[in-house]
Amino acid sequence: RDLYAPSRVNSPGVEFGDETALASLLAEVATGQTRVLKRAQPIIAGKPASGQARPVVSPVDGREVGTVDEADVASIEAAFAAAAKAFQPWSTTPATTRAEALEQLADLLEHERGALIALLAHEAGKTLDDAVSEVREAMDFCRYYAVEARRQFGSGQIMPGPTGEENRLVLRGRGTIICISPWNFPLAIFLGQVAAALAAGNAVIAKPAEQTPLIAALAVSLAHKAGIPPGALSLLPGDGRVGAALVGDSRVAGVAFTGSTEVATKINQTLAARRGPIVPLIAETGGINAMIVDATALPEQVSDDVVMSAFRSAGQRCSALRLLCLQEDVAERMLDMVRGAAAELKIGDPRDPSVHVGPVIDGEAKQRLDAVVARAKAEGRLVWQAGLPAGVPDGLFVPPAIVRVASPSDLTEEVFGPVLHVTTWKAGQLPALLDAIAANGTGLTLGIHSRIDQVQEAIVERLNHGNVYVNRNMIGAVVGTQPFGGSGLSGTGPKAGGPHYLARFAIEQVVSVNT
Ligand code: NAD
Ligand code: ALA
Repeated sequence: RDLYAPSRVNSPGVEFGDETALASLLAEVATGQTRVLKRAQPIIAGKPASGQARPVVSPVDGREVGTVDEADVASIEAAFAAAAKAFQPWSTTPATTRAEALEQLADLLEHERGALIALLAHEAGKTLDDAVSEVREAMDFCRYYAVEARRQFGSGQIMPGPTGEENRLVLRGRGTIICISPWNFPLAIFLGQVAAALAAGNAVIAKPAEQTPLIAALAVSLAHKAGIPPGALSLLPGDGRVGAALVGDSRVAGVAFTGSTEVATKINQTLAARRGPIVPLIAETGGINAMIVDATALPEQVSDDVVMSAFRSAGQRCSALRLLCLQEDVAERMLDMVRGAAAELKIGDPRDPSVHVGPVIDGEAKQRLDAVVARAKAEGRLVWQAGLPAGVPDGLFVPPAIVRVASPSDLTEEVFGPVLHVTTWKAGQLPALLDAIAANGTGLTLGIHSRIDQVQEAIVERLNHGNVYVNRNMIGAVVGTQPFGGSGLSGTGPKAGGPHYLARFAIEQVVSVNT
């Protein structure tokens, strides 16, 4: 129990149904709005650097939210130099002191919650509900890794051995870790990677997604305020070219990457081909996440869980449901209910607390998703698509859609947005369905709706998905409760928010002393 459940509780959320709590949240966001950053720059050794400037545009209304100075070769060089200088002092700082800085960072996030939520909504298009959860998750990561750093990075672990000899196993930082994150959790995943690498005693160079540099810049400024030494955490905004330059450098001691399988594969190849030490890649990517529903499932629960898993957050979660597999006998009834429940979702400006589905992140995403729906329509496979309510601009909104596929093997790519694919399977053909699901090679989240224990067990046994959700929705893994991450094409492990995460950012050293 000690090992897996350190004493710590996750931060509380906001009850949107409580009018007083909601009014106070909206006031906090309105005040926070006045403190959001308008310019993101490379931050190296605590100092801003300039670079090629470009506008940062909101997916909500297409308006400019601010500007970003993209990192250039000089900034990259300066960040490596700053990290090399900061590494030794930071890695030999007691783990308790490093942990205190992360806890201080969590407190500052709490304090700046209004500004963070305002940015999450406007820069990343998050609904208020999602933005509140994301700030919570970021705080929880900081506090969780602080506790784990104290537990795992203290004076080490004495190993059993012969009398007259002491064998001590210690964990130490590796050096400079590159953290590369996606836009869909621009605070929680960005800071989760950074907090873990710092907790383990590393220096960090962080490269946020090109779509969301402002929120990252605010998070880094709070981290420095919290006591993270300036040189130990640099920020290099920019697109994939900056990420590629960073991972190709021989001074890198490890890479934490969250994003697409395609980019993770490229990084893996770069790390293998470059000169320098053999270093770990912690990759967390996407998946063709399936939910298997049999005839014993409770229809009302299925429809609620499907709608939550496929369409909330505009389907822009790596954990989101992509492929719904309904047993044929109940398929039409279940699908009707899902359609009915999905039609109740409110689409619109994510800053309105009653809105459930906001915009997708950018024009490229919108085009890709619209093309999937258009093709399905042309082929007679579009089951349903919501309409855009009056007053909501076409802009970057993609109304939730349901598309039919004949078999799981017809869905070969992660469709990252509110487009759910549905297929059916016949009683007696569960093993074939599981083989087909396994065949795409991804293994992130998996949903099961069945009231038969043996069915649940058989599915779990056959598939190696990292997070399996039985008779519930399949999004929103909780730090320290549902350590999160997949296998196969979905990631390398270890799981974020779990007890084995920090160790991968460390080297293990055994000191044997003849006493
Ligand atoms: P992406 O792979 O396009 O980009 C992710 C990051 O990698 C960005 O910062 C980008 O600039 C950078 N990058 C791009 N090319 C690079 C290169 N050649 N070398 C180094 N860095 C490079 O992903 P995205 O569109 O930002 O995010 C969506 C994807 O992330 C989805 O596939 C989703 O499933 C996945 N995701 C996974 C998890 C998880 O925990 N498993 C969580 C969130 C998102
Ligand atoms: N950890 C996030 C979730 O579970 C991606 O939805």
